[in-house]
Amino acid sequence: MPITKIATFVAPQIKISKPFETSLNGVDLSFANIKEYERTKHVHRLHPYLGKFIPQLVEVFLRSYFKKGDSILDPFMGSGTTLIEANVLGMHSAGVEISLFNCLIADIKTKKYDIPLVEKEIKDILFKTKEYSNWLAQGQKQATFLQKSFKKYKTDSEYLNKWLSNRALQEILFYNGQIENYQNQDILKIILSRATRSARLIPHYDLARPSKPVRGKYYCIKHRRYCEPINEAIKFINRYSWDTIRRIKEFENIRTNAHIKIIQGDSREIDFNRIEGYKGGKFDGIFTSPPYVGLIDYHDQHRYAYELFGFNDNGLKEIGPASRGRSREAKKEYKNDIIAVFQNMNRFLKPKAKIFVVVNDRDNLYPEVASACGYEIEKVFHRPVLMRTERDNTRFSESIYYFIKR
Ligand SMILES: C[S@@+](CC[C@H](N)C(=O)[O-])C[C@H]1O[C@@H](n2cnc3c(N)ncnc32)[C@H](O)[C@@H]1O
Repeated sequence: MPITKIATFVAPQIKISKPFETSLNGVDLSFANIKEYERTKHVHRLHPYLGKFIPQLVEVFLRSYFKKGDSILDPFMGSGTTLIEANVLGMHSAGVEISLFNCLIADIKTKKYDIPLVEKEIKDILFKTKEYSNWLAQGQKQATFLQKSFKKYKTDSEYLNKWLSNRALQEILFYNGQIENYQNQDILKIILSRATRSARLIPHYDLARPSKPVRGKYYCIKHRRYCEPINEAIKFINRYSWDTIRRIKEFENIRTNAHIKIIQGDSREIDFNRIEGYKGGKFDGIFTSPPYVGLIDYHDQHRYAYELFGFNDNGLKEIGPASRGRSREAKKEYKNDIIAVFQNMNRFLKPKAKIFVVVNDRDNLYPEVASACGYEIEKVFHRPVLMRTERDNTRFSESIYYFIKR
């Protein structure tokens, strides 16, 4: 039995009384009983990403409101969770995302691979990096014996020099320099980026939002003992190489032939008619989670990747970044930007399309967004969320607005 409560939403000019629910088709939307390994199953954990959906949430809504063969759109694609879950259910999907690195994450998660070749390349570059790491560890003595032209590397990146030990930096720069010799460059970049993130000089308990590098022994809240700062990257490169092979094989076994399209751009202005391969078909619905006003900087959380690979930074086009804060002005700008996105997307939605928006709407902005975009509020779900990342154990709740396009 779904638990039904009555919520009153008050927004300027709009007052809506609607029942809200905390379960769907008997599934408890808190997902409190879902284990960590299920939340991070197969490709969903190929690279960490702060602000990601729990895949079970997407799955239950897609299963309940859409059918095989439908087309689903996510205008705030992030790391691609909606696209992956839609594909498993045989639904076509497209995602739009402003950050180039987030597009890379989504792309490597959803790509169809020549798996034996991927495996061979991941192992080959790993083997070379291990040799290089041994050379570093042995004080570079073996160079002539191995007849290798190993050398020391340098980078101008202030960020990488600040956040990595010299040894980790050398291993990372070596691996990065090798990537161009392989066909599956993107997947190698993701392994390296993930390893760089883990190898930074940060306390074990603070991977998501570190404030300053630790260069000496420190008391670790996560392990409840004194820990040494991280010195090498090779152990992470090794671990994530094997983990990546396992995860893409796992997804390969359950994926369907449904289409997936990833579009890099600004959702306020993207025009599907200009996208190669778009044949004018309209979407049956949206399942998305917009950035929340003043909460996360989506480019900055992956600063290491931008520094390593030199991607253009589109941070100024990010909607509601933490750096812009939560002032009255920032909220107004955020609301107008979100309205601009949905109004733009309306051009590509079927009449009566179903729109699901997962948002921690503590400022009660979304009833107004719905009204400005021509949406009826059909239902509102509520779910408690436990932040399980490192030290951050705060509870908050989020809403899932179910709108119908008039
Ligand atoms: C809450 S996250 C989405 C996470 C996603 N549901 C997942 O599971 O990975 C919101 C995303 O919106 C993106 N974004 C922000 N402004 C955007 C814009 N103007 N156009 C497209 N994407 C934007 C951010 O970069 C971020 O990745």
